[in-house]
Amino acid sequence: MAKTVHIKTYGCQMNAYDSGRMADVLAPLGYRTTEVVEGADMVILNTCHIREKAGEKVFSDLGRLRPLKQAREAAGAAMTIVVAGCTAQAEGEELRRRAPIVDVVVGPLAYHRLPELVAQAVRQGGGVLDTDMPAEPKFDALPAQSARPGVSAFLTVQEGCDKFCSFCVVPYTRGAEYSRPVAEIVDEARHLLDLGAREIVLLGQNVNAYRGAATDGTSWSLGRLIERLAELPGLSRLRYTTSHPLDVDDALVAAHRDVPALMPFLHLPVQSGSDRILAAMNRRHDAATYLRVIERLRKAQPALAFSSDFIVGFPGESERDFQATMALVREVGFAQAFSFKYSARPGTPAANLDLRIDDATATARLHALQAQLWQDQEAFNRAQVGRVLPVLIDGPGRHSGQVHGRSPYMQAVHAEASTVEPGTMVAMRIVEGRLNSLVGEPAAPPAAAAA
Ligand code: 5AD
Ligand code: SF4
Repeated sequence: MAKTVHIKTYGCQMNAYDSGRMADVLAPLGYRTTEVVEGADMVILNTCHIREKAGEKVFSDLGRLRPLKQAREAAGAAMTIVVAGCTAQAEGEELRRRAPIVDVVVGPLAYHRLPELVAQAVRQGGGVLDTDMPAEPKFDALPAQSARPGVSAFLTVQEGCDKFCSFCVVPYTRGAEYSRPVAEIVDEARHLLDLGAREIVLLGQNVNAYRGAATDGTSWSLGRLIERLAELPGLSRLRYTTSHPLDVDDALVAAHRDVPALMPFLHLPVQSGSDRILAAMNRRHDAATYLRVIERLRKAQPALAFSSDFIVGFPGESERDFQATMALVREVGFAQAFSFKYSARPGTPAANLDLRIDDATATARLHALQAQLWQDQEAFNRAQVGRVLPVLIDGPGRHSGQVHGRSPYMQAVHAEASTVEPGTMVAMRIVEGRLNSLVGEPAAPPAAAAA
């Protein structure tokens, strides 16, 4: 009989990809995914550990699952509870101790073993932990994707991080950098396109550190991989995330100049604009180096727009340091950005630093930074008014008679146009720019505009 699995995904796009792959691993055992948690035979919490709040969420969710599991058991059925992802990796033992209802704890590098782990949990009544970082890559053991992807599909090409920024848990939860071989990625991209995807987003914790083995015996950079993938029939758009400024090499800059399918929008986190704080963060670049990378990219591709991540309130951050961040923001003019208050993560070097910033100061800085970032984002969106942009339609809009799509810059575009199929590229004249979206109207009849 078919069994059901409910998967809840927290955090980043890599987790979204992993959740899909966990469903693929479980499909041969008869599990199909369900949106409903009540009555599911298995519940997987695919967790995030990046900040304290994210790491704590799993415990409140487990509290809510307890009565549901008990209700299943009272009815003579079972609910297998799996905690996966980065909190599983970082707090495996703690999870088992604090939440006995958890049957399986599995880290991000070991979920291809889920079938054995679940079988073992059934045999011994729970308490199974696998936070190994196996030498053999999980990708070799994953079956092909079975679920239909959306118009835009994620494809993990690289995992792990060797940069060790002093605030970040990623090198500990996702392990050392690993790049998948070129042929494996090309096959997976072809498969996603066959299933209906039109845009592929290449994922990696440090995606532009990609160095994948190619069949010609050499190792390819991300720029070269992008050129190869752009040749695949059926592909309209390519994106990649997340990049480190120091790993932007000439091949990647050239890809932005030469590959039309590569979208002119780049998420390039800087974290801070102060050289003193960047050094304390072990970012290995200063503000001037970051600005030079932006300049190189803009010279090669003037249409490029940038987004970034920022941390405010890092230990020791003075008002002057914060003003340096504001100055960098004003200098670059980001199209979009994410900003966070520093959160001390156990086990990271920065967690041992003195000179904590008090919460009120950090909050005030976050608000000041966000006010500037939102202003820039709105200005960028307004600047699109009057332009004709290719919009990749991904579904119906919020209201009937509307469609929703994405501009090259990832902006959500709403338009009155009821007949456009998802996956179609439509030339849209932008008539309104808002903080979080654009309003467009087809610039030509859909058939003529389709690319
Ligand atoms: N505290 C606050 N923000 C963090 N990030 C990573 N670690 C922390 C932390 N300890 C942010 C960084 C990173 C993004 C994914 O999350 O800005 O780029
Ligand atoms: Fe974390 Fe990114 Fe730094 Fe790697 S490069 S340690 S993932 S912030």
